[in-house]
Amino acid sequence: MAFKYEALAGQLAASIRSSILKAGSALPSLRHFAELHSVSLSTATKTYNLLEQQGLIWVKPQSGYFVRAEFTDKMPKRFLSQATLVKQDTSDVIFEVLQNAMRPDLVPLGGGCLPPELLPIEELQRSLYRAARRSPAAAYSYGHQLGYQGLRDAISEQLAKRHCHIAPSQLLITNGCLEAVNLAVMECTVVNDVVAIFTPCYSGLLMALKQAGRQILEIPCNQSGPDLDYLAALMEEQKFKALIFSAIAYNPLGFNLSVAVKKRLAALIMHYKIPSIEDDAFGELGFMHEQTTPVFAYANQLDNQNNCITYCSSFSKPLASGFRIGWLGRADSVSVFAKHKMNLNLTSSLPAQVGLADYLFSEGYRAHLKRLSVEIEKRLNQMAQLIQTYFPSSVAICQPKGGLFLWLEFLAHVDSMDFYQAALAQGISVSPGEIFSMTGRYKNCVRLTIGLTNEIKLEAAIKKLSELV
Ligand SMILES: Cc1ncc(COP(=O)(O)O)c(C=O)c1O
Repeated sequence: MAFKYEALAGQLAASIRSSILKAGSALPSLRHFAELHSVSLSTATKTYNLLEQQGLIWVKPQSGYFVRAEFTDKMPKRFLSQATLVKQDTSDVIFEVLQNAMRPDLVPLGGGCLPPELLPIEELQRSLYRAARRSPAAAYSYGHQLGYQGLRDAISEQLAKRHCHIAPSQLLITNGCLEAVNLAVMECTVVNDVVAIFTPCYSGLLMALKQAGRQILEIPCNQSGPDLDYLAALMEEQKFKALIFSAIAYNPLGFNLSVAVKKRLAALIMHYKIPSIEDDAFGELGFMHEQTTPVFAYANQLDNQNNCITYCSSFSKPLASGFRIGWLGRADSVSVFAKHKMNLNLTSSLPAQVGLADYLFSEGYRAHLKRLSVEIEKRLNQMAQLIQTYFPSSVAICQPKGGLFLWLEFLAHVDSMDFYQAALAQGISVSPGEIFSMTGRYKNCVRLTIGLTNEIKLEAAIKKLSELV
């Protein structure tokens, strides 16, 4: 349940994000706002404070509250016309870029995780310590083949808060989301099957499919997601065997599929019986008030024994990637996936699972996520403002609805690999568009991550990057 001020802030935020309230326009005074909505002055103040924290409005002393400059939405709303079958393997380039994204000596605008200062480190340390003290000797063994029961209980409870019901017995704990996706690819497809993915796409999925010898069909997305009529036509023509998709805070574009689109996608998958893998790694990172129910939940409403969608996620994005703890969920049974996992590495680290379970049951997690949704929106807005200030006006920014990234499109002649190399030479990591597809579609695009807290350092880095453009 949202507090009154959160609900009011949510309404205003939606109007600002959709440009109904224009950049620079004045908001009613606090007193007037309170009268308009029949709330106390304190509720009005909390509403404006929350919007200010999200970076959506600002206060001008003696003058009042104003809507912050919005992103100039110059991102073309086109879909790159056709789905394209990948013919080459660019894993080596991806591998090199990912290695640099992990380098601690660079300004981290190319990584894929929360900056450490946004993690609830002290609470996590307390939970790990508490769990270690209480753990019997058995907690240092391989544990149950599906993973620690307490953690599966806690994950099931957390998913239910997003209207997604997966029982603890239908969950398998994995080494991160990527292992869950790999297990699902192994079980749901065979070598040479055509697997459709949205593009641009998280490079780990491209590498996983290539490594497994699957063919990749890239389905173009724009800032709202894929064209479902087109996807339905491809399903009808049996152009692919399986589908991998994400619906929330999509990496790298930042879109959230609308409820109507999620329901339709679920219905299509069920109708055509397409084995599908929902990668929900960013599912908890939608901005405040965004609807974040996974597609899996809508498929279950159609058939609660649905065996089409394998749900994959982890704690890597909303919490800490270093735990390497994720999970795979099914509405039927996870036992075949557990068998694959057993062949690979038996089970996942039990002490890490026990510590995480303690943290999840401490209720600190929901509070952390709430703080995070405000903070990531603020930082993305801040970075977008800097880009609009310093970069050439021809640069288009894709306006996100969640996640940690800004996707930029330069003029066609700009080569993002050159840009990436030049940025590295300046001590800054960025993610070139090249790594988000294996068909060379995004040579003039770049993804930037909210990796820096220090505003002065961030401004200096963006200035440097603007000179390179
Ligand atoms: C969309 C997506 N899925 C999965 C992963 C990998 O998640 P994990 O670290 O839990 O394996 C990432 C990492 O960036 C990602 O962006």
